[in-house]
Amino acid sequence: MRLLVVGREGQVARSLREAAAGENDLVLHSVGRSDADLLRPGTVTAAISQFHPDIVVNAAAYTAVDKAEDEPDFAFAINRDGAGEVAAAAASEHVPVIHFSTDYVFDGRKSGPYEERDEPNPQNVYGRSKLEGERAVMLANSRHIVLRTSWVYAPFGSNFVRTIWRKLVAGELLRVVNDQTGCPTYAPDLARATIIMARQVVRTGWRSDYSGITHIAGPDALTWYDFARLIEMKRDDHPAEANEIVPVATAEYPVGAIRPKNSCLSTKRLHSVFDIRLPALQTSLDDCLARISQE
Ligand SMILES: NC(=O)c1ccc[n+]([C@@H]2O[C@H](COP(=O)([O-])OP(=O)(O)OC[C@H]3O[C@@H](n4cnc5c(N)ncnc54)[C@H](OP(=O)(O)O)[C@@H]3O)[C@@H](O)[C@H]2O)c1
Repeated sequence: MRLLVVGREGQVARSLREAAAGENDLVLHSVGRSDADLLRPGTVTAAISQFHPDIVVNAAAYTAVDKAEDEPDFAFAINRDGAGEVAAAAASEHVPVIHFSTDYVFDGRKSGPYEERDEPNPQNVYGRSKLEGERAVMLANSRHIVLRTSWVYAPFGSNFVRTIWRKLVAGELLRVVNDQTGCPTYAPDLARATIIMARQVVRTGWRSDYSGITHIAGPDALTWYDFARLIEMKRDDHPAEANEIVPVATAEYPVGAIRPKNSCLSTKRLHSVFDIRLPALQTSLDDCLARISQE
């Protein structure tokens, strides 16, 4: 199987490269911004047509959620127009596209996990640009899998787990939001699942039920505060009285963009169509922290 991944050093793109490394019959070619820039559509089209992939995976995006409030044009150019170009370039090669989207397309007012059919209502520029990106992808290529994921973390890159770990090791007092709930998703789990999905598509040929949006996220829901406490408990040297982390309300922690209070994703469709379940948070977090602590 030949996979072309747009994006190279992001959490998901790098995890895809790592996951592919052990698979003999998989040729994965990832293209960074210097070879395929979503702001220069011709470069993306050229990269895809030169490689002759079986499937294109778009793991590149504008992901600076707060900064997007100040530069919406940039966010939309990459997340809507760029995403649409990737999907169109795959379509012109007659191959499917797997595209990543986000839990931030929802407003967070639902009490339970969000299903694919729930009405999106993004509360920030990033969420709006990603929602329009989903639509652009679906319009440009009928053979699309749009994977909405959430709270992505990895042993590398910029993410919550690495930030909390670094601050705990430095002995800093942490104030962490305790009224936003989500499902953390380990990028290496997401990458392995994406490869399984791509293999299934190549093996079975395109099936109409693959098309559309599929939620993919870790199985455990918790608040950012509880997530930070879990990370703290994984420290071998964590102090007897855990007083380093203080729960705060969103209102006490001002940031640029509004976040949904609840962004848990139901993964029923992921099980029923693709027969995929991601590992438990404890398992994935152990793996992540083992790698981080070796740095
Ligand atoms: N992180 C999360 O919590 C989260 C949650 C839900 C959904 N998602 C979605 O999951 C996907 C992967 O996210 P991630 O966490 O892996 O993101 P990430 O670590 O921020 O990586 C984003 C990647 O996109 C690349 N990129 C940005 N602008 C580009 C451009 N103009 N042309 C080409 N490449 C460009 C970046 O390249 P450079 O390295 O050159 O900057 C980077 O490699 C995205 O679609 C994101 O929206 C993420």
